[in-house]
Amino acid sequence: MDRLTIRRPDDWHLHLRDGAMLSLVAPLSADMGRALVMPNLVPPVVTGAQAAAYRDRIVAAGFARPLMTVYLTEGTDPADLIAAHAAGIVTAVKLYPAGATTNSGSGVQRFDAIRPVLEAMEEHGIPLCVHGEVTDPDIDVFDREAAFIDRRLMPMRDAHPDLKITMEHITTVDAAAFVRETGIGATITVQHLMANRNDMLAGGMRPHFYCLPILKRRRHQEALRTLATSGATNVFLGTDSAPHPTHVKEAACCAAGCLTAPIALAAYAQVFDEEGALDCFEGFASLNGPAHYGLPPNEDRVTLHRGDPIAALPALERGETVVTPFDPGRPIRWHVEGNGGC
Ligand code: NCD
Ligand code: ZN
Repeated sequence: MDRLTIRRPDDWHLHLRDGAMLSLVAPLSADMGRALVMPNLVPPVVTGAQAAAYRDRIVAAGFARPLMTVYLTEGTDPADLIAAHAAGIVTAVKLYPAGATTNSGSGVQRFDAIRPVLEAMEEHGIPLCVHGEVTDPDIDVFDREAAFIDRRLMPMRDAHPDLKITMEHITTVDAAAFVRETGIGATITVQHLMANRNDMLAGGMRPHFYCLPILKRRRHQEALRTLATSGATNVFLGTDSAPHPTHVKEAACCAAGCLTAPIALAAYAQVFDEEGALDCFEGFASLNGPAHYGLPPNEDRVTLHRGDPIAALPALERGETVVTPFDPGRPIRWHVEGNGGC
């Protein structure tokens, strides 16, 4: 198969930032119908009113159909969440363990404190998106996802069996097995499917591969590729495209996040092609996510074809803001039609 027409995909995990960065990156996700936009701004998006205002800024910056999240804190007011969800302003709530990743300082430290909010979400059908890593300094950074499953996610599921959960950007054999066994939702990024820690660390340290959860060993990458392309209906596209200015990535202390939006759809198609699973691509990219969130799939279609490898993209600039798009360092032969031939 060298040409594929599928319902238009959605991105179920996207960072658009704010201000100049927002106007630079919002158009890069034009292939996606909708995007679930992460709330880890500085300061974070913590109320329904802030989510509505952020949604308006995103639309003004050129991304037409954002779906909003709010950032769960120990002070979140369940009544505000319930009202914002009922009004269609907020699609999901994002849980960051405090200190786990970029701008997670306002996240959750005492998990007992959020029990009432989780109970309210469970009762009102408000989905929870989880950054699944513990922050215990005694746990090795490569083991933080597996530890989170045992220490936090399993107890959370037992305590809130009807809560709709998405484990975001899964990176390990352990998470893949957990997602298969439990049927909870999961997103998988471009970089975790296309790369492993050797790509980041062997022969020199490549900051544009650094994200959280960190890239793992190859056997973990293989488990993710197998799961993504298996036809499992609870696993779906979430790029976690997360721009940082180039000088912040190429620094002594590099920020976590990869700007994958410009190549994301082509790169996912490349992975499904390599795995001989293009017949499962529409499910992963366009059907499973909407079904998980109780939304209809997009009506319009997008066509991709296989051709020459796409060229690595140059740095993108707007005023003072410069960002470097993620380059997997391996050929991507798929092209999304109708977007200038990229
Ligand atoms: C994300 C960011 O930069 O906001 N970074 C990342 O490495 N993935 C935050 C996140 O999703 O963890
Ligand atoms: Zn993210």
